[in-house]
Amino acid sequence: MDRWRIQLLGELRATRGSEVVSHFRSQKVAGLLAFLAHHRETAHAREVLIEMFWPDCEPEAGRNNLSKALSLLRAQLEPGGESGTALLASRATVQLDPATTTDVDELRAALAAAAKAKGAGRREALARVLELYKGELLAGHYQDWIAPERDRLRASFTRAALELARALDAAGDRHGAVDAARRAVASEPEGEDAARVLMDLHARTGEPSAALRVFGELSERLGRELGTTPSAPTRELARAIEVSLSPVKPTRRPARALPLELHEIFGREEELARLEAELRPAASRTRLLTLTGPGGIGKTRLALEAARRLEGAHEGPVAFVSLADVTDDRFIETAALRALGLAASPRRAPLDEIAAAIGLSPALLVLDNFEQLVPGGSGFVRGLLERAESLACLVTSRRRLGISGEREVALAPLAMPGEGDLEALASVPSVRLFVDRARAASPGFALTRENAPAVAELVRSLEGVPLALALAAGRAQILSPEQILERLPGEPLEDLLR
Ligand SMILES: Nc1ncnc2c1ncn2[C@@H]1O[C@H](COP(=O)(O)OP(=O)(O)O)[C@@H](O)[C@H]1O
Ligand SMILES: [Mg+2]
Repeated sequence: MDRWRIQLLGELRATRGSEVVSHFRSQKVAGLLAFLAHHRETAHAREVLIEMFWPDCEPEAGRNNLSKALSLLRAQLEPGGESGTALLASRATVQLDPATTTDVDELRAALAAAAKAKGAGRREALARVLELYKGELLAGHYQDWIAPERDRLRASFTRAALELARALDAAGDRHGAVDAARRAVASEPEGEDAARVLMDLHARTGEPSAALRVFGELSERLGRELGTTPSAPTRELARAIEVSLSPVKPTRRPARALPLELHEIFGREEELARLEAELRPAASRTRLLTLTGPGGIGKTRLALEAARRLEGAHEGPVAFVSLADVTDDRFIETAALRALGLAASPRRAPLDEIAAAIGLSPALLVLDNFEQLVPGGSGFVRGLLERAESLACLVTSRRRLGISGEREVALAPLAMPGEGDLEALASVPSVRLFVDRARAASPGFALTRENAPAVAELVRSLEGVPLALALAAGRAQILSPEQILERLPGEPLEDLLR
Protein backbone atom coordinates (compact mmCIF):
# COMPACT_ATOMS: atom_id res chain seq x y z
CA MET A 1 0.00 0.00 0.00
CA ASP A 2 1.12 3.56 -0.75
CA ARG A 3 2.38 5.67 2.13
CA TRP A 4 1.13 9.08 3.03
CA ARG A 5 3.14 12.12 2.03
CA ILE A 6 2.71 15.01 4.42
CA GLN A 7 3.19 18.53 3.11
CA LEU A 8 4.34 20.85 5.87
CA LEU A 9 5.49 23.81 3.79
CA GLY A 10 2.81 26.38 3.16
CA GLU A 11 -0.44 24.60 3.84
CA LEU A 12 -0.59 21.36 5.82
CA ARG A 13 -1.95 18.51 3.73
CA ALA A 14 -1.65 14.75 3.46
CA THR A 15 -1.73 12.98 0.11
CA ARG A 16 -1.67 9.34 -0.88
CA GLY A 17 -2.21 8.49 -4.52
CA SER A 18 -5.36 10.38 -5.41
CA GLU A 19 -6.44 10.87 -1.78
CA VAL A 20 -5.95 14.36 -0.38
CA VAL A 21 -6.63 15.45 3.19
CA SER A 22 -6.30 19.19 3.70
CA HIS A 23 -9.00 19.89 6.26
CA PHE A 24 -8.52 18.51 9.72
CA ARG A 25 -11.06 18.12 12.45
CA SER A 26 -9.40 20.74 14.59
CA GLN A 27 -6.29 22.86 14.74
CA LYS A 28 -5.00 20.56 17.49
CA VAL A 29 -5.46 17.48 15.30
CA ALA A 30 -3.63 19.23 12.48
CA GLY A 31 -0.88 20.36 14.83
CA LEU A 32 -0.50 16.85 16.18
CA LEU A 33 -0.13 15.40 12.70
CA ALA A 34 2.40 18.07 11.78
CA PHE A 35 4.50 17.37 14.86
CA LEU A 36 4.35 13.58 14.41
CA ALA A 37 5.20 13.88 10.73
CA HIS A 38 8.14 16.16 11.29
CA HIS A 39 9.46 14.00 14.12
CA ARG A 40 8.44 10.55 12.92
CA GLU A 41 11.79 8.87 13.55
CA THR A 42 10.89 8.47 17.23
CA ALA A 43 8.01 7.16 19.26
CA HIS A 44 6.74 10.00 21.45
CA ALA A 45 5.65 9.42 25.01
CA ARG A 46 1.95 10.20 25.36
CA GLU A 47 2.74 12.35 28.41
CA VAL A 48 5.00 14.52 26.33
CA LEU A 49 2.37 15.02 23.65
CA ILE A 50 -0.26 15.83 26.26
CA GLU A 51 2.01 18.35 27.91
CA MET A 52 2.66 19.90 24.53
CA PHE A 53 -0.89 20.16 23.23
CA TRP A 54 -3.01 20.31 26.38
CA PRO A 55 -0.67 21.81 28.95
CA ASP A 56 -3.46 23.09 31.16
CA CYS A 57 -5.48 19.86 31.42
CA GLU A 58 -5.69 17.45 34.32
CA PRO A 59 -3.83 14.21 33.46
CA GLU A 60 -7.04 12.26 32.93
CA ALA A 61 -8.59 14.88 30.64
CA GLY A 62 -5.31 15.25 28.79
CA ARG A 63 -5.17 11.53 28.09
CA ASN A 64 -8.75 11.63 26.82
CA ASN A 65 -8.03 14.58 24.59
CA LEU A 66 -5.03 12.86 23.05
CA SER A 67 -6.96 9.63 22.46
CA LYS A 68 -9.78 11.58 20.87
CA ALA A 69 -7.39 13.51 18.62
CA LEU A 70 -5.62 10.31 17.60
CA SER A 71 -8.84 8.60 16.67
CA LEU A 72 -9.95 11.63 14.65
CA LEU A 73 -6.63 11.49 12.84
CA ARG A 74 -7.02 7.75 12.32
CA ALA A 75 -10.43 8.31 10.81
CA GLN A 76 -8.82 10.53 8.23
CA LEU A 77 -5.56 8.68 7.59
CA GLU A 78 -6.76 5.14 8.06
CA PRO A 79 -10.20 5.06 6.49
CA GLY A 80 -11.78 1.67 5.80
CA GLY A 81 -10.26 -0.23 8.71
CA GLU A 82 -6.58 -0.17 7.85
CA SER A 83 -6.02 0.45 11.53
CA GLY A 84 -2.43 0.80 12.65
CA THR A 85 -0.94 1.45 9.24
CA ALA A 86 -0.38 5.20 9.48
CA LEU A 87 -0.35 5.78 13.21
CA LEU A 88 1.61 3.41 15.42
CA ALA A 89 0.26 3.80 18.93
CA SER A 90 0.86 1.83 22.09
CA ARG A 91 -0.39 2.49 25.61
CA ALA A 92 2.71 4.57 26.27
CA THR A 93 3.81 6.04 22.93
CA VAL A 94 2.61 7.38 19.62
CA GLN A 95 4.49 7.50 16.34
CA LEU A 96 3.67 8.22 12.75
CA ASP A 97 4.69 5.43 10.40
CA PRO A 98 8.40 6.21 9.83
CA ALA A 99 7.98 5.29 6.17
CA THR A 100 5.69 8.30 5.71
CA THR A 101 7.39 10.97 3.61
CA THR A 102 7.36 14.74 4.03
CA ASP A 103 8.14 17.62 1.76
CA VAL A 104 10.58 18.98 4.34
CA ASP A 105 12.71 15.86 3.96
CA GLU A 106 12.51 16.14 0.19
CA LEU A 107 13.58 19.75 0.49
CA ARG A 108 16.54 18.78 2.65
CA ALA A 109 17.49 16.08 0.17
CA ALA A 110 17.36 18.60 -2.66
CA LEU A 111 19.51 21.02 -0.69
CA ALA A 112 22.06 18.27 0.00
CA ALA A 113 22.06 17.27 -3.66
CA ALA A 114 22.62 20.88 -4.69
CA ALA A 115 25.55 21.16 -2.30
CA LYS A 116 27.24 18.18 -3.97
CA ALA A 117 26.37 18.82 -7.60
CA LYS A 118 27.88 21.25 -10.07
CA GLY A 119 26.68 23.06 -13.19
CA ALA A 120 23.35 21.93 -14.60
CA GLY A 121 22.92 19.30 -11.88
CA ARG A 122 23.20 21.95 -9.23
CA ARG A 123 20.72 24.20 -11.00
CA GLU A 124 18.27 21.31 -11.21
CA ALA A 125 18.56 20.51 -7.53
CA LEU A 126 18.10 24.19 -6.63
CA ALA A 127 15.09 24.44 -8.91
CA ARG A 128 13.63 21.47 -7.05
CA VAL A 129 14.14 23.35 -3.77
CA LEU A 130 12.16 26.27 -5.16
CA GLU A 131 9.45 23.95 -6.35
CA LEU A 132 9.15 22.22 -2.98
CA TYR A 133 9.12 25.36 -0.87
CA LYS A 134 5.44 26.22 -1.18
CA GLY A 135 5.61 28.68 1.67
CA GLU A 136 6.66 28.97 5.29
CA LEU A 137 6.76 25.89 7.44
CA LEU A 138 3.26 25.29 8.83
CA ALA A 139 1.95 28.76 8.16
CA GLY A 140 -0.72 29.57 10.73
CA HIS A 141 0.51 27.03 13.30
CA TYR A 142 2.10 28.25 16.50
CA GLN A 143 3.55 25.39 18.54
CA ASP A 144 6.87 26.24 20.14
CA TRP A 145 8.93 23.87 18.04
CA ILE A 146 7.81 25.43 14.76
CA ALA A 147 9.26 28.97 14.81
CA PRO A 148 13.00 28.09 15.00
CA GLU A 149 12.60 25.34 12.43
CA ARG A 150 10.59 27.68 10.21
CA ASP A 151 13.37 30.29 10.39
CA ARG A 152 16.06 27.74 9.54
CA LEU A 153 14.15 26.45 6.53
CA ARG A 154 13.35 29.95 5.36
CA ALA A 155 17.01 30.94 5.55
CA SER A 156 18.07 27.80 3.63
CA PHE A 157 15.42 28.46 1.03
CA THR A 158 16.43 32.10 0.60
CA ARG A 159 20.06 31.13 0.13
CA ALA A 160 19.11 28.47 -2.39
CA ALA A 161 16.86 30.87 -4.32
CA LEU A 162 19.62 33.46 -4.47
CA GLU A 163 22.12 30.89 -5.54
CA LEU A 164 19.81 29.69 -8.26
CA ALA A 165 19.30 33.28 -9.39
CA ARG A 166 23.05 33.73 -9.71
CA ALA A 167 23.52 30.37 -11.41
CA LEU A 168 20.76 31.02 -13.94
CA ASP A 169 22.12 34.49 -14.57
CA ALA A 170 25.56 33.02 -15.20
CA ALA A 171 24.00 30.46 -17.53
CA GLY A 172 22.35 33.26 -19.51
CA ASP A 173 18.77 32.74 -18.26
CA ARG A 174 18.12 36.23 -16.93
CA HIS A 175 14.37 35.90 -16.71
CA GLY A 176 14.61 32.64 -14.81
CA ALA A 177 17.11 34.40 -12.58
CA VAL A 178 14.68 37.27 -11.93
CA ASP A 179 11.98 34.78 -10.92
CA ALA A 180 14.31 33.01 -8.50
CA ALA A 181 15.49 36.30 -6.98
CA ARG A 182 11.88 37.40 -6.58
CA ARG A 183 11.19 34.26 -4.56
CA ALA A 184 14.15 35.08 -2.33
CA VAL A 185 12.90 38.64 -1.78
CA ALA A 186 9.38 37.41 -1.08
CA SER A 187 10.61 34.97 1.56
CA GLU A 188 12.78 37.57 3.28
CA PRO A 189 11.43 41.01 2.43
CA GLU A 190 13.91 42.69 4.76
CA GLY A 191 16.91 40.86 3.32
CA GLU A 192 19.22 43.24 1.53
CA ASP A 193 21.28 40.58 -0.27
CA ALA A 194 18.20 39.30 -2.01
CA ALA A 195 17.00 42.82 -2.81
CA ARG A 196 20.35 43.74 -4.33
CA VAL A 197 20.50 40.64 -6.52
CA LEU A 198 16.98 41.31 -7.77
CA MET A 199 17.67 45.02 -8.34
CA ASP A 200 20.80 44.23 -10.26
CA LEU A 201 19.02 41.66 -12.42
CA HIS A 202 16.12 44.00 -13.15
CA ALA A 203 18.56 46.73 -14.10
CA ARG A 204 20.41 44.41 -16.46
CA THR A 205 17.23 43.05 -18.05
CA GLY A 206 16.35 46.63 -19.01
CA GLU A 207 13.89 47.25 -16.20
CA PRO A 208 15.57 49.87 -14.03
CA SER A 209 12.26 51.19 -12.75
CA ALA A 210 11.37 47.71 -11.50
CA ALA A 211 14.74 47.71 -9.76
CA LEU A 212 13.96 51.03 -8.08
CA ARG A 213 10.57 49.73 -7.03
CA VAL A 214 12.33 46.86 -5.26
CA PHE A 215 14.49 49.45 -3.51
CA GLY A 216 11.44 51.54 -2.61
CA GLU A 217 9.65 48.54 -1.14
CA LEU A 218 12.74 47.52 0.80
CA SER A 219 13.15 51.03 2.20
CA GLU A 220 9.52 51.25 3.17
CA ARG A 221 9.63 47.84 4.78
CA LEU A 222 12.82 48.53 6.72
CA GLY A 223 11.43 51.84 7.89
CA ARG A 224 8.15 50.36 8.98
CA GLU A 225 9.34 47.11 10.56
CA LEU A 226 12.75 47.99 11.91
CA GLY A 227 12.94 51.77 11.84
CA THR A 228 16.08 51.63 9.70
CA THR A 229 17.09 52.45 6.15
CA PRO A 230 18.88 50.32 3.56
CA SER A 231 22.62 50.00 4.06
CA ALA A 232 25.17 51.96 2.06
CA PRO A 233 25.88 49.26 -0.60
CA THR A 234 22.16 48.94 -1.33
CA ARG A 235 21.72 52.70 -1.54
CA GLU A 236 24.72 53.01 -3.82
CA LEU A 237 23.34 50.38 -6.14
CA ALA A 238 20.01 52.20 -6.26
CA ARG A 239 21.74 55.45 -6.99
CA ALA A 240 23.78 53.90 -9.77
CA ILE A 241 20.60 52.51 -11.31
CA GLU A 242 18.92 55.91 -11.02
CA VAL A 243 21.81 57.58 -12.74
CA SER A 244 21.71 55.03 -15.54
CA LEU A 245 18.04 55.74 -15.87
CA SER A 246 18.02 59.50 -16.19
CA PRO A 247 19.86 60.04 -19.48
CA VAL A 248 17.74 57.39 -21.20
CA LYS A 249 14.45 58.81 -20.01
CA PRO A 250 14.78 62.56 -19.65
CA THR A 251 10.99 62.77 -19.39
CA ARG A 252 11.36 61.56 -15.82
CA ARG A 253 12.87 64.89 -14.88
CA PRO A 254 10.31 66.48 -12.63
CA ALA A 255 8.75 69.79 -13.47
CA ARG A 256 10.27 72.93 -12.00
CA ALA A 257 8.05 74.61 -9.53
CA LEU A 258 9.39 78.03 -8.62
CA PRO A 259 7.14 81.06 -8.71
CA LEU A 260 8.01 83.85 -11.09
CA GLU A 261 9.71 86.88 -9.53
CA LEU A 262 9.65 89.97 -11.67
CA HIS A 263 11.62 92.31 -9.46
CA GLU A 264 15.36 92.28 -9.72
CA ILE A 265 17.30 91.30 -6.60
CA PHE A 266 19.80 93.83 -5.23
CA GLY A 267 22.83 93.05 -3.13
CA ARG A 268 22.92 89.80 -1.17
CA GLU A 269 25.93 88.52 -3.11
CA GLU A 270 27.58 87.10 -0.02
CA GLU A 271 24.43 85.45 1.25
CA LEU A 272 23.73 83.96 -2.16
CA ALA A 273 27.24 82.60 -2.44
CA ARG A 274 26.88 80.98 0.97
CA LEU A 275 23.47 79.49 0.23
CA GLU A 276 24.63 78.18 -3.11
CA ALA A 277 27.69 76.58 -1.59
CA GLU A 278 25.79 74.95 1.26
CA LEU A 279 22.84 73.71 -0.72
CA ARG A 280 24.54 72.57 -3.91
CA PRO A 281 24.32 68.75 -4.23
CA ALA A 282 27.50 67.34 -2.78
CA ALA A 283 28.44 64.72 -0.27
CA SER A 284 28.76 67.20 2.53
CA ARG A 285 25.94 69.56 1.83
CA THR A 286 23.70 71.11 4.43
CA ARG A 287 20.35 69.34 4.66
CA LEU A 288 18.46 72.06 6.49
CA LEU A 289 19.23 75.74 6.25
CA THR A 290 16.95 78.27 7.89
CA LEU A 291 17.00 81.89 6.83
CA THR A 292 15.91 83.90 9.84
CA GLY A 293 15.16 87.58 10.35
CA PRO A 294 12.26 89.93 11.00
CA GLY A 295 9.37 90.30 8.56
CA GLY A 296 10.25 92.29 5.45
CA ILE A 297 13.99 91.81 5.75
CA GLY A 298 14.08 89.88 2.46
CA LYS A 299 14.07 86.21 3.43
CA THR A 300 11.60 85.08 0.79
CA ARG A 301 13.22 87.08 -1.98
CA LEU A 302 16.63 85.68 -1.15
CA ALA A 303 15.42 82.08 -0.82
CA LEU A 304 13.72 82.31 -4.19
CA GLU A 305 16.83 83.66 -5.85
CA ALA A 306 18.99 80.97 -4.30
CA ALA A 307 16.57 78.24 -5.40
CA ARG A 308 16.53 79.64 -8.92
CA ARG A 309 20.30 79.59 -9.10
CA LEU A 310 20.45 76.05 -7.74
CA GLU A 311 17.82 74.68 -10.09
CA GLY A 312 20.19 73.50 -12.75
CA ALA A 313 22.38 71.71 -10.26
CA HIS A 314 19.61 69.38 -9.06
CA GLU A 315 18.33 66.39 -10.97
CA GLY A 316 15.36 66.04 -8.69
CA PRO A 317 12.65 68.58 -8.01
CA VAL A 318 13.39 72.11 -6.88
CA ALA A 319 10.14 73.43 -5.51
CA PHE A 320 8.77 76.34 -3.53
CA VAL A 321 6.21 75.62 -0.84
CA SER A 322 4.45 78.73 0.33
CA LEU A 323 3.23 78.34 3.88
CA ALA A 324 2.09 81.93 4.37
CA ASP A 325 -1.52 80.81 4.58
CA VAL A 326 -0.93 77.57 6.45
CA THR A 327 -1.53 77.88 10.17
CA ASP A 328 -2.16 74.24 11.07
CA ASP A 329 0.85 71.97 10.75
CA ARG A 330 -1.30 69.12 9.45
CA PHE A 331 -1.61 71.01 6.20
CA ILE A 332 2.10 71.39 5.51
CA GLU A 333 2.03 68.01 3.83
CA THR A 334 -0.78 69.07 1.54
CA ALA A 335 1.03 72.27 0.59
CA ALA A 336 4.22 70.33 -0.14
CA LEU A 337 2.40 67.72 -2.23
CA ARG A 338 0.76 70.47 -4.24
CA ALA A 339 4.02 72.35 -4.78
CA LEU A 340 5.56 69.17 -6.15
CA GLY A 341 2.60 68.52 -8.43
CA LEU A 342 1.66 65.38 -6.51
CA ALA A 343 -1.70 64.10 -5.40
CA ALA A 344 -2.31 62.53 -2.00
CA SER A 345 -2.23 58.78 -2.37
CA PRO A 346 -4.67 56.48 -0.60
CA ARG A 347 -1.95 53.87 -0.16
CA ARG A 348 0.94 55.92 1.12
CA ALA A 349 1.44 58.51 3.80
CA PRO A 350 2.13 61.97 2.29
CA LEU A 351 5.68 61.94 3.63
CA ASP A 352 6.36 58.65 1.89
CA GLU A 353 4.68 59.89 -1.25
CA ILE A 354 6.93 62.94 -1.32
CA ALA A 355 10.02 60.88 -0.51
CA ALA A 356 9.17 58.45 -3.31
CA ALA A 357 8.69 61.30 -5.79
CA ILE A 358 12.04 62.72 -4.85
CA GLY A 359 13.63 59.30 -5.10
CA LEU A 360 17.39 59.41 -5.01
CA SER A 361 18.04 62.51 -7.04
CA PRO A 362 19.28 65.62 -5.29
CA ALA A 363 16.28 67.82 -4.62
CA LEU A 364 15.62 71.15 -2.95
CA LEU A 365 12.47 72.24 -1.21
CA VAL A 366 11.99 75.85 -0.17
CA LEU A 367 9.58 76.06 2.76
CA ASP A 368 8.63 79.71 2.88
CA ASN A 369 7.12 81.46 5.90
CA PHE A 370 7.50 78.71 8.43
CA GLU A 371 7.44 80.85 11.59
CA GLN A 372 3.82 80.24 12.57
CA LEU A 373 4.41 76.48 12.30
CA VAL A 374 7.28 76.27 14.78
CA PRO A 375 7.59 73.99 16.67
CA GLY A 376 4.63 71.79 15.61
CA GLY A 377 5.67 71.68 11.97
CA SER A 378 9.30 70.84 12.66
CA GLY A 379 8.38 67.15 12.78
CA PHE A 380 7.32 67.31 9.16
CA VAL A 381 10.70 68.68 8.11
CA ARG A 382 12.58 66.15 10.22
CA GLY A 383 10.47 63.26 8.88
CA LEU A 384 10.96 64.36 5.31
CA LEU A 385 14.72 64.75 5.67
CA GLU A 386 14.91 61.30 7.21
CA ARG A 387 12.96 59.67 4.42
CA ALA A 388 14.37 61.53 1.43
CA GLU A 389 18.09 61.32 1.81
CA SER A 390 18.90 63.33 -1.26
CA LEU A 391 16.72 66.24 -0.18
CA ALA A 392 17.80 69.56 1.26
CA CYS A 393 15.38 72.10 2.70
CA LEU A 394 15.78 75.85 2.62
CA VAL A 395 13.38 77.36 5.14
CA THR A 396 12.47 80.99 5.70
CA SER A 397 11.19 81.74 9.16
CA ARG A 398 11.38 84.44 11.80
CA ARG A 399 12.53 81.70 14.19
CA ARG A 400 14.69 78.67 13.71
CA LEU A 401 13.04 75.25 13.66
CA GLY A 402 15.14 73.71 16.40
CA ILE A 403 16.01 70.53 14.52
CA SER A 404 19.43 69.03 15.06
CA GLY A 405 21.70 69.64 12.10
CA GLU A 406 19.85 72.86 11.26
CA ARG A 407 22.07 75.70 9.95
CA GLU A 408 20.89 79.23 10.49
CA VAL A 409 21.64 82.22 8.34
CA ALA A 410 20.37 85.35 10.11
CA LEU A 411 19.58 87.97 7.51
CA ALA A 412 20.71 91.55 8.06
CA PRO A 413 19.18 94.61 6.33
CA LEU A 414 20.50 95.61 2.92
CA ALA A 415 23.75 97.55 2.83
CA MET A 416 23.09 101.25 3.43
CA PRO A 417 24.65 104.34 1.89
CA GLY A 418 27.62 106.00 3.51
CA GLU A 419 29.24 109.20 2.30
CA GLY A 420 29.91 109.31 -1.41
CA ASP A 421 29.10 110.81 -4.77
CA LEU A 422 26.04 110.14 -6.87
CA GLU A 423 27.59 107.19 -8.66
CA ALA A 424 28.60 105.53 -5.39
CA LEU A 425 25.12 106.13 -3.97
CA ALA A 426 23.43 104.64 -7.03
CA SER A 427 25.26 101.36 -6.58
CA VAL A 428 24.28 100.75 -2.94
CA PRO A 429 21.76 97.84 -2.78
CA SER A 430 19.23 99.57 -0.51
CA VAL A 431 19.27 102.65 -2.73
CA ARG A 432 18.92 100.57 -5.86
CA LEU A 433 15.91 98.83 -4.38
CA PHE A 434 14.27 102.15 -3.51
CA VAL A 435 14.98 103.65 -6.92
CA ASP A 436 13.79 100.53 -8.74
CA ARG A 437 10.48 100.49 -6.89
CA ALA A 438 10.03 104.25 -7.18
CA ARG A 439 10.48 103.95 -10.93
CA ALA A 440 7.92 101.16 -11.01
CA ALA A 441 5.45 103.48 -9.26
CA SER A 442 6.39 106.54 -11.30
CA PRO A 443 8.13 105.82 -14.61
CA GLY A 444 9.76 109.27 -14.73
CA PHE A 445 11.56 108.82 -11.42
CA ALA A 446 15.36 109.02 -11.39
CA LEU A 447 18.08 109.45 -8.84
CA THR A 448 19.51 112.95 -9.38
CA ARG A 449 22.05 115.22 -7.78
CA GLU A 450 19.07 117.15 -6.38
CA ASN A 451 17.15 114.32 -4.74
CA ALA A 452 20.21 112.22 -3.81
CA PRO A 453 20.58 113.57 -0.25
CA ALA A 454 16.91 113.01 0.47
CA VAL A 455 17.02 109.48 -0.95
CA ALA A 456 20.13 108.63 1.07
CA GLU A 457 18.51 110.04 4.21
CA LEU A 458 15.28 108.16 3.51
CA VAL A 459 17.06 104.86 3.02
CA ARG A 460 18.99 105.37 6.27
CA SER A 461 15.81 106.22 8.17
CA LEU A 462 14.23 103.05 6.90
CA GLU A 463 17.29 101.16 8.09
CA GLY A 464 17.78 99.33 4.82
CA VAL A 465 14.77 97.08 5.43
CA PRO A 466 13.55 95.99 1.98
CA LEU A 467 9.84 95.91 2.75
CA ALA A 468 9.98 99.40 4.27
CA LEU A 469 11.90 100.66 1.25
CA ALA A 470 9.46 99.08 -1.17
CA LEU A 471 6.46 100.58 0.63
CA ALA A 472 8.00 104.04 0.83
CA ALA A 473 8.97 103.91 -2.84
CA GLY A 474 5.35 103.14 -3.71
CA ARG A 475 4.50 106.72 -2.73
CA ALA A 476 6.84 108.15 -5.38
CA GLN A 477 3.92 108.35 -7.76
CA ILE A 478 2.67 111.47 -5.99
CA LEU A 479 5.46 112.52 -3.65
CA SER A 480 9.09 113.52 -4.08
CA PRO A 481 11.72 111.78 -1.94
CA GLU A 482 11.86 114.86 0.27
CA GLN A 483 8.13 114.68 0.82
CA ILE A 484 8.22 110.98 1.50
CA LEU A 485 10.96 111.61 4.03
CA GLU A 486 8.99 114.39 5.73
CA ARG A 487 5.93 112.26 6.01
CA LEU A 488 7.62 109.25 7.52
CA PRO A 489 5.85 108.50 10.78
CA GLY A 490 7.85 108.78 14.00
CA GLU A 491 8.43 105.11 14.53
CA PRO A 492 7.96 103.75 11.06
CA LEU A 493 9.55 100.38 11.31
CA GLU A 494 7.70 99.10 14.33
CA ASP A 495 4.39 99.82 12.64
CA LEU A 496 5.32 98.69 9.19
CA LEU A 497 6.78 95.41 10.11
CA ARG A 498 4.12 94.04 12.33
N1 LIG B 1 17.62 91.98 -2.02
C1 LIG B 1 16.46 92.44 -2.49
N2 LIG B 1 16.39 93.02 -3.69
C2 LIG B 1 15.21 93.47 -4.17
N3 LIG B 1 14.06 93.37 -3.50
C3 LIG B 1 14.05 92.79 -2.30
C4 LIG B 1 15.25 92.29 -1.73
N4 LIG B 1 14.95 91.76 -0.53
C5 LIG B 1 13.63 91.94 -0.37
N5 LIG B 1 13.08 92.57 -1.42
C6 LIG B 1 11.68 92.94 -1.55
O1 LIG B 1 11.25 93.41 -0.31
C7 LIG B 1 9.98 92.94 0.04
C8 LIG B 1 10.05 92.14 1.32
O2 LIG B 1 10.92 91.03 1.16
P1 LIG B 1 10.53 89.55 1.56
O3 LIG B 1 11.49 88.65 0.93
O4 LIG B 1 9.11 89.28 1.29
O5 LIG B 1 10.75 89.61 3.13
P2 LIG B 1 10.50 88.50 4.23
O6 LIG B 1 10.28 87.22 3.52
O7 LIG B 1 11.71 88.50 5.08
O8 LIG B 1 9.31 88.94 5.01
C9 LIG B 1 9.52 92.14 -1.15
O9 LIG B 1 8.77 92.96 -1.99
C10 LIG B 1 10.81 91.75 -1.84
O10 LIG B 1 10.63 91.56 -3.22
MG1 LIG C 1 8.59 86.03 3.55
